[in-house]
Amino acid sequence: MLTIESLSKSYNSGDKALTDVNITLPKGQVVALIGPSGAGKSTLIRCVNRLVEPTQGKIFLADTPITQLNSGQLRAARRRMGMIFQDYALIDRLSVMENVLSGYLGYSGFWRSFLRRYPQDVITEAFRLLERVGLESFIDKRADELSGGQRQRVGIARALLQNPQILLVDEPTASLDPKTSRQIMRLIKELCAERQLSAIINIHDVSLAQQFADRIIGLKSGQVVFDGQPDALDTDMLTLIYGEEDWNPQTDNDDEKEAPVHSSKPMMMSSKAALV
Ligand SMILES: Nc1ncnc2c1ncn2[C@@H]1O[C@H](COP(=O)(O)OP(=O)(O)OP(=O)(O)O)[C@@H](O)[C@H]1O
Ligand SMILES: [Mg+2]
Repeated sequence: MLTIESLSKSYNSGDKALTDVNITLPKGQVVALIGPSGAGKSTLIRCVNRLVEPTQGKIFLADTPITQLNSGQLRAARRRMGMIFQDYALIDRLSVMENVLSGYLGYSGFWRSFLRRYPQDVITEAFRLLERVGLESFIDKRADELSGGQRQRVGIARALLQNPQILLVDEPTASLDPKTSRQIMRLIKELCAERQLSAIINIHDVSLAQQFADRIIGLKSGQVVFDGQPDALDTDMLTLIYGEEDWNPQTDNDDEKEAPVHSSKPMMMSSKAALV
Protein backbone atom coordinates (compact mmCIF):
# COMPACT_ATOMS: atom_id res chain seq x y z
CA MET A 1 0.00 0.00 0.00
CA LEU A 2 2.67 2.54 1.08
CA THR A 3 6.31 1.90 0.32
CA ILE A 4 9.10 4.13 1.52
CA GLU A 5 12.49 3.31 0.03
CA SER A 6 15.83 4.72 1.18
CA LEU A 7 14.23 7.98 2.25
CA SER A 8 16.59 10.70 3.43
CA LYS A 9 15.93 14.34 4.18
CA SER A 10 18.42 17.11 4.86
CA TYR A 11 17.01 20.56 5.48
CA ASN A 12 18.74 23.59 3.97
CA SER A 13 19.86 24.46 7.48
CA GLY A 14 22.06 21.37 7.31
CA ASP A 15 19.91 19.37 9.72
CA LYS A 16 19.85 15.76 8.60
CA ALA A 17 16.32 14.82 9.66
CA LEU A 18 16.02 11.36 8.06
CA THR A 19 18.62 8.83 6.93
CA ASP A 20 17.85 5.83 4.75
CA VAL A 21 14.36 5.07 6.05
CA ASN A 22 12.68 1.98 4.59
CA ILE A 23 9.09 1.15 5.50
CA THR A 24 6.47 -1.00 3.80
CA LEU A 25 2.99 -0.45 5.13
CA PRO A 26 0.35 -3.02 4.13
CA LYS A 27 -3.27 -2.07 3.57
CA GLY A 28 -5.18 -1.66 6.81
CA GLN A 29 -2.14 -1.51 9.08
CA VAL A 30 -1.90 1.10 11.82
CA VAL A 31 1.69 2.06 12.59
CA ALA A 32 2.73 4.21 15.50
CA LEU A 33 5.88 6.23 14.92
CA ILE A 34 7.65 6.98 18.16
CA GLY A 35 10.88 8.69 19.08
CA PRO A 36 12.18 11.70 20.97
CA SER A 37 11.62 15.26 19.92
CA GLY A 38 13.60 16.01 16.79
CA ALA A 39 13.85 12.34 15.77
CA GLY A 40 12.22 13.08 12.41
CA LYS A 41 8.65 11.87 12.94
CA SER A 42 6.91 14.90 11.47
CA THR A 43 9.46 15.10 8.67
CA LEU A 44 8.72 11.50 7.71
CA ILE A 45 4.97 12.05 7.59
CA ARG A 46 5.42 15.24 5.62
CA CYS A 47 7.73 13.57 3.12
CA VAL A 48 4.98 11.04 2.38
CA ASN A 49 2.68 13.76 1.06
CA ARG A 50 5.61 15.96 0.01
CA LEU A 51 4.75 18.86 2.22
CA VAL A 52 8.47 18.37 2.77
CA GLU A 53 10.50 17.44 -0.31
CA PRO A 54 12.65 14.36 0.28
CA THR A 55 16.33 14.75 -0.46
CA GLN A 56 16.67 11.15 -1.55
CA GLY A 57 14.59 8.03 -1.88
CA LYS A 58 11.30 6.90 -3.32
CA ILE A 59 7.76 6.76 -1.98
CA PHE A 60 4.94 4.78 -3.57
CA LEU A 61 1.26 4.93 -2.60
CA ALA A 62 0.00 1.70 -4.14
CA ASP A 63 1.55 2.03 -7.62
CA THR A 64 1.76 5.81 -7.63
CA PRO A 65 5.35 7.09 -7.43
CA ILE A 66 4.71 10.02 -5.10
CA THR A 67 8.28 11.28 -5.35
CA GLN A 68 8.07 11.60 -9.12
CA LEU A 69 4.76 13.43 -9.50
CA ASN A 70 4.40 16.92 -10.92
CA SER A 71 2.36 19.41 -8.94
CA GLY A 72 -0.98 18.57 -10.61
CA GLN A 73 -0.46 14.86 -10.12
CA LEU A 74 0.63 15.47 -6.55
CA ARG A 75 -2.56 17.37 -5.79
CA ALA A 76 -4.56 14.37 -6.97
CA ALA A 77 -2.41 11.96 -4.97
CA ARG A 78 -2.78 14.04 -1.80
CA ARG A 79 -6.53 13.49 -1.95
CA ARG A 80 -5.76 9.86 -1.26
CA MET A 81 -3.90 10.78 1.92
CA GLY A 82 -5.93 12.13 4.81
CA MET A 83 -4.09 14.27 7.35
CA ILE A 84 -5.00 14.66 11.02
CA PHE A 85 -3.17 17.26 13.10
CA GLN A 86 -2.35 17.88 16.74
CA ASP A 87 -3.93 21.34 16.65
CA TYR A 88 -6.92 20.06 14.60
CA ALA A 89 -6.45 22.79 11.96
CA LEU A 90 -10.14 23.69 11.95
CA ILE A 91 -11.61 26.97 10.78
CA ASP A 92 -12.99 28.33 14.06
CA ARG A 93 -15.72 30.54 12.69
CA LEU A 94 -17.20 27.78 10.53
CA SER A 95 -19.63 25.14 11.72
CA VAL A 96 -18.72 21.55 12.39
CA MET A 97 -20.45 20.52 9.17
CA GLU A 98 -18.66 23.16 7.10
CA ASN A 99 -15.33 22.09 8.52
CA VAL A 100 -15.99 18.49 7.61
CA LEU A 101 -17.17 19.45 4.13
CA SER A 102 -13.94 21.39 3.59
CA GLY A 103 -12.27 17.97 3.39
CA TYR A 104 -13.94 17.62 0.02
CA LEU A 105 -12.42 20.78 -1.40
CA GLY A 106 -9.40 19.03 -2.79
CA TYR A 107 -11.73 17.46 -5.33
CA SER A 108 -13.65 20.51 -6.32
CA GLY A 109 -11.38 23.51 -6.42
CA PHE A 110 -11.38 26.87 -4.85
CA TRP A 111 -14.57 28.30 -6.33
CA ARG A 112 -16.67 25.77 -4.50
CA SER A 113 -15.03 26.62 -1.22
CA PHE A 114 -15.81 30.24 -1.94
CA LEU A 115 -19.43 29.52 -2.73
CA ARG A 116 -19.54 26.78 -0.16
CA ARG A 117 -21.61 24.53 -2.35
CA TYR A 118 -21.28 20.81 -2.17
CA PRO A 119 -23.02 17.95 -4.00
CA GLN A 120 -25.84 16.34 -2.02
CA ASP A 121 -24.10 12.96 -1.83
CA VAL A 122 -21.08 14.63 -0.24
CA ILE A 123 -23.30 16.32 2.34
CA THR A 124 -24.98 12.99 3.06
CA GLU A 125 -21.60 11.35 3.54
CA ALA A 126 -20.50 14.18 5.85
CA PHE A 127 -23.62 13.59 7.98
CA ARG A 128 -22.86 9.90 8.10
CA LEU A 129 -19.27 10.53 9.16
CA LEU A 130 -20.29 13.01 11.84
CA GLU A 131 -22.67 10.41 13.20
CA ARG A 132 -19.91 7.82 13.13
CA VAL A 133 -17.52 10.00 15.13
CA GLY A 134 -20.27 10.82 17.63
CA LEU A 135 -20.93 14.42 16.70
CA GLU A 136 -24.42 14.19 15.22
CA SER A 137 -25.78 16.68 17.75
CA PHE A 138 -22.97 19.19 17.12
CA ILE A 139 -23.37 19.64 13.39
CA ASP A 140 -24.34 23.32 13.50
CA LYS A 141 -22.03 24.35 16.31
CA ARG A 142 -19.11 26.59 15.54
CA ALA A 143 -15.78 24.80 15.70
CA ASP A 144 -14.53 27.14 18.42
CA GLU A 145 -17.37 26.03 20.71
CA LEU A 146 -16.07 22.47 20.88
CA SER A 147 -13.80 20.67 23.33
CA GLY A 148 -10.41 19.42 22.16
CA GLY A 149 -11.67 15.86 21.78
CA GLN A 150 -14.67 17.03 19.77
CA ARG A 151 -12.45 19.17 17.59
CA GLN A 152 -10.24 16.19 16.86
CA ARG A 153 -13.34 14.17 15.90
CA VAL A 154 -14.17 16.88 13.39
CA GLY A 155 -10.62 16.64 12.05
CA ILE A 156 -11.00 12.88 11.68
CA ALA A 157 -14.35 13.18 9.88
CA ARG A 158 -12.89 15.83 7.58
CA ALA A 159 -9.94 13.59 6.69
CA LEU A 160 -12.28 10.66 6.00
CA LEU A 161 -14.54 12.67 3.73
CA GLN A 162 -11.67 12.62 1.24
CA ASN A 163 -12.10 8.85 1.18
CA PRO A 164 -8.34 8.43 1.58
CA GLN A 165 -6.31 5.25 1.29
CA ILE A 166 -3.96 6.26 4.06
CA LEU A 167 -4.13 8.47 7.12
CA LEU A 168 -1.12 10.58 8.10
CA VAL A 169 -1.57 11.58 11.71
CA ASP A 170 0.78 13.92 13.57
CA GLU A 171 0.39 13.71 17.34
CA PRO A 172 -3.40 13.49 17.41
CA THR A 173 -3.59 13.34 21.18
CA ALA A 174 -0.84 15.70 22.32
CA SER A 175 -3.36 18.38 23.33
CA LEU A 176 -5.85 16.00 24.96
CA ASP A 177 -6.31 14.51 28.42
CA PRO A 178 -5.48 10.80 28.89
CA LYS A 179 -9.02 9.46 28.64
CA THR A 180 -9.90 11.53 25.58
CA SER A 181 -6.59 10.49 24.05
CA ARG A 182 -7.53 6.85 24.35
CA GLN A 183 -10.96 7.50 22.88
CA ILE A 184 -9.45 9.30 19.89
CA MET A 185 -6.85 6.58 19.30
CA ARG A 186 -9.55 3.92 19.56
CA LEU A 187 -11.71 5.80 17.06
CA ILE A 188 -8.85 6.11 14.56
CA LYS A 189 -8.05 2.42 14.97
CA GLU A 190 -11.67 1.35 14.49
CA LEU A 191 -12.12 3.53 11.44
CA CYS A 192 -8.95 2.11 9.89
CA ALA A 193 -10.27 -1.41 10.46
CA GLU A 194 -13.71 -0.57 9.06
CA ARG A 195 -12.28 1.03 5.93
CA GLN A 196 -9.14 -1.03 5.44
CA LEU A 197 -7.16 2.17 5.83
CA SER A 198 -3.47 2.27 6.62
CA ALA A 199 -2.25 4.88 9.06
CA ILE A 200 1.02 6.34 10.26
CA ILE A 201 0.49 7.96 13.63
CA ASN A 202 3.21 10.06 15.25
CA ILE A 203 2.80 9.78 18.95
CA HIS A 204 4.83 10.57 22.05
CA ASP A 205 2.88 8.39 24.43
CA VAL A 206 4.40 4.93 24.19
CA SER A 207 1.60 3.31 26.16
CA LEU A 208 -1.02 4.60 23.73
CA ALA A 209 1.10 3.42 20.82
CA GLN A 210 1.35 -0.04 22.33
CA GLN A 211 -2.33 -0.17 23.10
CA PHE A 212 -3.65 0.85 19.71
CA ALA A 213 -1.07 0.26 16.98
CA ASP A 214 -0.53 -2.96 15.03
CA ARG A 215 3.13 -2.11 14.67
CA ILE A 216 5.57 0.33 16.17
CA ILE A 217 8.45 2.05 14.43
CA GLY A 218 11.03 3.76 16.62
CA LEU A 219 13.00 6.63 15.15
CA LYS A 220 16.16 7.99 16.64
CA SER A 221 18.15 10.80 15.05
CA GLY A 222 16.37 10.18 11.76
CA GLN A 223 17.00 6.45 11.61
CA VAL A 224 14.69 3.51 12.20
CA VAL A 225 16.04 1.71 15.26
CA PHE A 226 12.96 -0.43 16.00
CA ASP A 227 10.31 -1.88 13.74
CA GLY A 228 8.11 -4.56 15.21
CA GLN A 229 5.16 -5.69 17.27
CA PRO A 230 4.06 -3.46 20.14
CA ASP A 231 4.84 -6.12 22.73
CA ALA A 232 8.40 -6.48 21.44
CA LEU A 233 9.13 -2.95 22.57
CA ASP A 234 10.84 -3.58 25.87
CA THR A 235 12.66 -1.37 28.33
CA ASP A 236 16.03 -1.86 26.66
CA MET A 237 14.63 -0.83 23.30
CA LEU A 238 12.91 2.20 24.78
CA THR A 239 16.16 3.19 26.42
CA LEU A 240 17.87 2.89 23.06
CA ILE A 241 15.23 5.03 21.37
CA TYR A 242 14.81 7.69 24.01
CA GLY A 243 18.22 7.58 25.68
CA GLU A 244 19.27 6.59 29.15
CA GLU A 245 18.55 9.83 30.92
CA ASP A 246 15.08 10.43 29.54
CA TRP A 247 13.82 6.94 29.88
CA ASN A 248 11.78 6.39 33.00
CA PRO A 249 9.49 3.38 32.70
CA GLN A 250 6.35 3.56 34.80
CA THR A 251 5.36 -0.03 34.37
CA ASP A 252 4.14 -0.39 37.94
CA ASN A 253 1.69 2.42 37.64
CA ASP A 254 -1.64 0.73 37.11
CA ASP A 255 -3.93 3.52 38.29
CA GLU A 256 -5.15 4.60 34.89
CA LYS A 257 -2.08 6.63 34.03
CA GLU A 258 -3.02 10.00 35.42
CA ALA A 259 0.22 11.40 34.10
CA PRO A 260 0.48 14.86 32.59
CA VAL A 261 -0.50 14.96 28.96
CA HIS A 262 2.70 16.66 27.92
CA SER A 263 5.00 14.40 29.87
CA SER A 264 8.41 14.59 28.25
CA LYS A 265 9.08 11.04 29.33
CA PRO A 266 7.58 8.13 27.49
CA MET A 267 5.37 5.80 29.45
CA MET A 268 5.12 2.11 28.86
CA MET A 269 1.73 0.51 29.06
CA SER A 270 0.94 -1.24 32.28
CA SER A 271 -0.32 -4.76 31.80
CA LYS A 272 -3.33 -3.69 33.85
CA ALA A 273 -3.99 -0.49 31.95
CA ALA A 274 -7.72 -0.19 31.62
CA LEU A 275 -9.39 0.12 28.27
CA VAL A 276 -11.90 2.84 27.63
N1 LIG B 1 11.56 23.34 8.38
C1 LIG B 1 12.70 22.91 8.94
N2 LIG B 1 13.88 23.51 8.64
C2 LIG B 1 15.03 23.07 9.18
N3 LIG B 1 15.12 22.04 10.02
C3 LIG B 1 14.00 21.41 10.36
C4 LIG B 1 12.72 21.81 9.83
N4 LIG B 1 11.77 21.00 10.33
C5 LIG B 1 12.41 20.13 11.14
N5 LIG B 1 13.75 20.38 11.16
C6 LIG B 1 14.76 19.61 11.89
O1 LIG B 1 14.67 18.25 11.50
C7 LIG B 1 14.79 17.39 12.63
C8 LIG B 1 13.55 16.52 12.76
O2 LIG B 1 12.44 17.35 13.08
P1 LIG B 1 10.96 16.79 13.18
O3 LIG B 1 10.07 17.97 13.38
O4 LIG B 1 10.69 15.92 12.02
O5 LIG B 1 11.04 15.92 14.50
P2 LIG B 1 9.87 15.25 15.35
O6 LIG B 1 10.31 13.85 15.63
O7 LIG B 1 8.57 15.44 14.68
O8 LIG B 1 9.92 16.09 16.71
P3 LIG B 1 8.73 16.45 17.73
O9 LIG B 1 8.48 15.21 18.53
O10 LIG B 1 9.31 17.55 18.58
O11 LIG B 1 7.56 16.91 16.94
C9 LIG B 1 15.07 18.31 13.81
O12 LIG B 1 16.45 18.38 14.00
C10 LIG B 1 14.50 19.62 13.39
O13 LIG B 1 15.18 20.69 14.00
MG1 LIG C 1 6.80 16.40 15.19
